[in-house]
Amino acid sequence: SGEWDLKILCMGAGYVGGPTMAVIAKQCPKIRVVVGDISQKQIDAWNTDDLPIYEPGLLEVVQECRHRNLFFSTDLDKEIDEADVIFISVNTPTKTKGIGAGAAANIKNCELCARHIAKIAKQSKIVVEKSTVPVRTAEAISRILRANEKGFEFQVLSNPEFLAEGTAIKDLMNPDRVLIGGPQTTEGLKAIETLVSVYANWVPLEQILTTNLWSSELSKLVANAFLAQRVSSINSISALCEATGADVNEISRAVGMDDRIGKRFLQPSVGFGGSCFQKDILNLVYLCETYGLQACADYWRQVIQMNDFQKKRFSEGIVASMFNTVTGKKIAILGYAFKKDTGDVRETPSMFVVRDLLQENAKIHVYDPQVTRGDMWLEMDYTCGVNHDNTPGLDEAVTTSTDAYSACDGAHAVCILTEWDEFKTLDYKKIYDSMAKPAFLFDGRLLLDHKELRKIGFEVHAIGKPD
Ligand code: NAD
Ligand code: UGA
Repeated sequence: SGEWDLKILCMGAGYVGGPTMAVIAKQCPKIRVVVGDISQKQIDAWNTDDLPIYEPGLLEVVQECRHRNLFFSTDLDKEIDEADVIFISVNTPTKTKGIGAGAAANIKNCELCARHIAKIAKQSKIVVEKSTVPVRTAEAISRILRANEKGFEFQVLSNPEFLAEGTAIKDLMNPDRVLIGGPQTTEGLKAIETLVSVYANWVPLEQILTTNLWSSELSKLVANAFLAQRVSSINSISALCEATGADVNEISRAVGMDDRIGKRFLQPSVGFGGSCFQKDILNLVYLCETYGLQACADYWRQVIQMNDFQKKRFSEGIVASMFNTVTGKKIAILGYAFKKDTGDVRETPSMFVVRDLLQENAKIHVYDPQVTRGDMWLEMDYTCGVNHDNTPGLDEAVTTSTDAYSACDGAHAVCILTEWDEFKTLDYKKIYDSMAKPAFLFDGRLLLDHKELRKIGFEVHAIGKPD
């Protein structure tokens, strides 16, 4: 490729495409990396220092590589033509209507990318599925490419991404493993080797796993299903703890010290959120159903049902504790992102709590260090169907505050819904003094020192803890 060892294009400049490619560019100065998108707004933001996503450490990596070997562009025709390797890292949301509505993943965007590549490419290329997709999507992509071939062959690989938001740069720099699936043919194995050589610039070879396509695609869905299952498992136990007087933190500690179980991902919460856990489990459920495995489908669906139960239980608990009414009461919501260190609100549990409290006619004041009011409304409309047109007074009912103290000023209750570090060091005495009494505090993340808060005077209710 001329002055470059390899030219990579990534179609999709989102939470995965952006950080993943930035780290490849950082670790491989001799590879030219272009991140492309159909959204001009998204690409324009990547070309400024006001990046479209918040991720610790990301800006530094982008600043180091941008215009050196990392470029952001909407000129997909030109970049497809030039690239040796093309990643597809577009969104694959759950279908909302038609066959498989509410469960199947829509791979429309992946297919559009494949068709775009087929139309433009004048020579052989390696096409890599980075998006999380149903098993056998690589076959669909292959067939589209093959049907449009002009005397050369494309190789399609699967290389699912395991980064978590909020720790994306750390996860990418030091991944537990990189997984690459491909056709077990001479050409397929050669393509796998090319992709292995990219990651081998910084990932030890023992941590780069290669396998066939279907195992790779399915492993991604299974990894997310297992992770989400742990959260639902501990959350189910949090309900039992509240009923029996056991302490869920003590359970996590005692159970997690068994090496076979492990310590991580046993943190009880108001529920898991994020764009992927629910979507990917539904994807798995739909696959099971497609192959007639109803018992397997039911088993995994229960992970989501437990999560719904947990979110609902939390908002019902607020109303029940506050004398069965929150009508007209000011309730402060600290944290709206689905986890700390991100501004992402997709499927965030905070949204479901806010929605439920709005139905009770509470006055909501939200403070989150990274979430914009615009994103809040977009997601509320997309996922809950609540918007300004069908819900008059929505704008007046929800205030977004620029700091935690003003959100809590005069409130009847404070709810901790995201585990932001800064919430640990707030002056809770000052907050208490400014609130209506009795001052309720609902800790949905087990973030705070409840003994200390009770000493100040708060009535504290926390997930999985005796009141
Ligand atoms: P995203 O919505 O943040 O980004 C997707 C981008 O693709 C958007 O900017 C969109 O404009 C662009 N796009 C759509 N169609 C396109 C096309 N035809 N050509 C070019 N660009 C196009 O999504 P995301 O969170 O980055 O997720 C992408 C995929 O990665 C999903 O399949 C997801 O399941 C998977 N994944 C996500 C995460 C995560 O933490 N968000 C982690 C691992 C895997
Ligand atoms: C998750 C996986 O961890 C990644 O490996 C995967 O690549 C990604 O999904 C994806 O495919 O999109 P992410 O959703 O970004 O990453 O964040 P997590 O740290 O997994 O948290 C997900 C949700 O579970 C959050 O709402 C978090 O608060 C919650 N959670 C997590 C708990 O409630 N308790 C825990 O112990 C851990």
